[in-house]
Amino acid sequence: MKEQLEALLQEALAELSQASTEEGLQELRVKYLGKKGAITGVMKGLGALSPEERPLVGQVVNTVKAKLEETLDARGAEIRAAVKAQRLAAEKIDVTLPGRKSPLGSKHPITLVTEEICSIFAALGFAVAEGPEIELDFYNFEALNLPKDHPARDMQDTFYFGESVLLRTHTSPVQIRTMLKQPPPVRIIAPGTVYRCDSDATHSPMFHQIEGLMVDKGITFADLKGILTLFISQLFGKDIGVRLRPSFFPFTEPSAEVDIACVICRGKGCRVCKETGWLEILGSGMVDPEVYRHVGYDSEQYTGFAFGMGIERIAMLKYGIADMRLLFENDLRFLKQF
Ligand code: FA5
Ligand code: MG
Repeated sequence: MKEQLEALLQEALAELSQASTEEGLQELRVKYLGKKGAITGVMKGLGALSPEERPLVGQVVNTVKAKLEETLDARGAEIRAAVKAQRLAAEKIDVTLPGRKSPLGSKHPITLVTEEICSIFAALGFAVAEGPEIELDFYNFEALNLPKDHPARDMQDTFYFGESVLLRTHTSPVQIRTMLKQPPPVRIIAPGTVYRCDSDATHSPMFHQIEGLMVDKGITFADLKGILTLFISQLFGKDIGVRLRPSFFPFTEPSAEVDIACVICRGKGCRVCKETGWLEILGSGMVDPEVYRHVGYDSEQYTGFAFGMGIERIAMLKYGIADMRLLFENDLRFLKQF
């Protein structure tokens, strides 16, 4: 019986060394150590032995079983290690390879121009102010000297939400909000989105403006002209044609609109400049005392100027864009050029 067991062990060990998968090992475990396994079979014969032989053979059985278990476990560990090594080799990544770059977008021309204008005015000491796009009639019109029945309200076709709530038609309400919040001196610019019921090659229902306001003791029209001329020469270069044209705004007196030579046709006249050779880029003027009255500033002590410019029109001039609608179509072939 002892020889039988030894033979079984040798046979099992030989088969074990051939096994190369965990499933194979499991089959061998069942074959030798399972309920109907070979070794179990031998053990069933123990009862037929004499009482003296039984413990001796029993000991051999235990040794054989232990040896087999041990070898099974060791072989299992080897197989698992080999499988893992194989997987690691297959899944190996080269961490030194350069990564895939995510494609970089570019800034929208409106953003580029806004940033450039803000930085020119920042260098002149202007701080950036903001206000809401959904505005009250009071800030957008009333406090800017445009009372309810004023005919100049027609200058800006307004989107209304009701009696007194509207989409701001210009950034000028930020002037009012700023002056109500702080005493003079004031030196701010306010970039933002504005809305008008208006749409063609040079007018968009949603567009952008930058407002400017400077109030202090002794500010004159010469300051207005000096700062705006300096600003335009920094934005467009020294040789761009500039003209100030007398104009009217209810919130400034006197008022001037500022034109620059049309860079699309170089002054000859085209669709963009409506054959005039000039493009209006901003409105400006000395703040009307009536506005100071609404915000509680003393117009005997303080004077100042304000201006508001259309960013789209400036972007068109700067980059030679002939149709404003291109700025809002989100065509990547267009946007990638900036
Ligand atoms: C105003 O909006 C005044 N608030 C500007 C102002 C501010 C004057 C402070 C005095 C003091 P105006 O309606 O002209 O003014 O518009 C100013 C600029 O916005 C225009 O010169 C033009 O460049 C631009 N603009 C006006 N309407 C449109 C539109 N529909 N689409 C694109 N740009 C426009
Ligand atoms: Mg105008």
